[in-house]
Amino acid sequence: MNASPKQYPIGGIKPHGGELVNRVLTGEEREEALARAQTLKGLQLKSLMNLSDLELLAIGAFSPLTGFMVKEDYDRVVEEMRLHSGLVWSVPVTLAVTEEEATDIGEGQDITLWQDDTPLAIMAVSEKYRRDTAREAREVYRTEDRAHPGVARLYRHGDVLLGGDIWLLNWPQPREFPEFRHTPAQTRRMFARRGWRRIVGFQTRNPIHRAHEYIQKTALEITDGLFLHPLVGETKADDIPADVRMQSYQVILRDYYPAERVLLGVFPAAMRYAGPREAIFHALARKNYGCTHFIVGRDHAGVGNYYGTYDAQLIFDEFEPDEIGITPLFFDYTFYCRKCDSVVSAKTCPHGKEDWVYLSGTQVRQMLERGEMLPKEFTRPEVSKVLMEGIRNRRTQEAK
Ligand code: ADX
Repeated sequence: MNASPKQYPIGGIKPHGGELVNRVLTGEEREEALARAQTLKGLQLKSLMNLSDLELLAIGAFSPLTGFMVKEDYDRVVEEMRLHSGLVWSVPVTLAVTEEEATDIGEGQDITLWQDDTPLAIMAVSEKYRRDTAREAREVYRTEDRAHPGVARLYRHGDVLLGGDIWLLNWPQPREFPEFRHTPAQTRRMFARRGWRRIVGFQTRNPIHRAHEYIQKTALEITDGLFLHPLVGETKADDIPADVRMQSYQVILRDYYPAERVLLGVFPAAMRYAGPREAIFHALARKNYGCTHFIVGRDHAGVGNYYGTYDAQLIFDEFEPDEIGITPLFFDYTFYCRKCDSVVSAKTCPHGKEDWVYLSGTQVRQMLERGEMLPKEFTRPEVSKVLMEGIRNRRTQEAK
């Protein structure tokens, strides 16, 4: 790396847009808002993604956003991957309502967002507008196919959107993994206490297999610290559940990572499975948490065959590096090679497929469901064990 480490301040670079947003009300302000919330028109938040987005907006993970998008931001994000201000932003953060809910809510009105009996937030609805759902699917997800889980959710949510600022009163529930649920302000302080200047963020919705470990540790060779930041919001049903993954992360960190160089935190976002666009979004969010670097490997945030293996890397070329701010670290497809006796990529290994150990997500799931350990070349045995037991317990609970 050419850049001098001093170029990075201790504790992380500036958030996207320059200022870390904080819309979490506390103390007297919160008390007053709570009383007001009871008097306002209410809207129940039902979608897990909306609940996640609300929390992420409030804690500044989506800085500079201060609420659900208004039309001028939404349109430019969909078409050009920029907010109205010109700042890069790649996925819409929107609040969709049904036609029936929409009739009761007018522009310029403050409303209360509820989760069952709990007032979560006050929202100043500045706009009510209609989206072109097919256009959003095409532009953001690169497909209109409703078999795509992100596109399916888009159509489920409907096309009337409310835009406007939010102020959080109570945390959406369930607030799982509280000891790992650091806000961006907290992670910045944690990085600073450790004296880290170069911090590499790692997004994942999977257990850490040997390939993940390899790219994380390679990145750690050129940075001061690794921020392991698994996404624990809504994922598709056949992804490994977050509670099982969290156990597996703790086991692998305990046995194979230097504690003083890694911080584990959870990213409460929902997966959109938007591939390339989501890679930019994931990177910008991690910049807000204070990361200076961000890993993008093969088919980042992809699903099925909707995206090319390296599309999520190529999309970064559409911007000037300083418009993104966080530095992406691109990795080729990595896997274990029996002849090299290590994890490699096609870039670093002279051997062929017959020597490579590769399992698809489906094969992994099938083996775990059958109670089989994954090959040690693919996954650390300690991790396999946690996954196997986690999946088995889940099956037993489901059967009850
Ligand atoms: S993701 O949906 O969160 O991107 P996953 O947890 O599989 O999925 O990947 C986490 C990160 O590791 C992503 O940047 C992805 O591109 C990268 N990655 C996963 N597996 C590999 C691999 N075998 N080789 C290179 N990069 C990989």
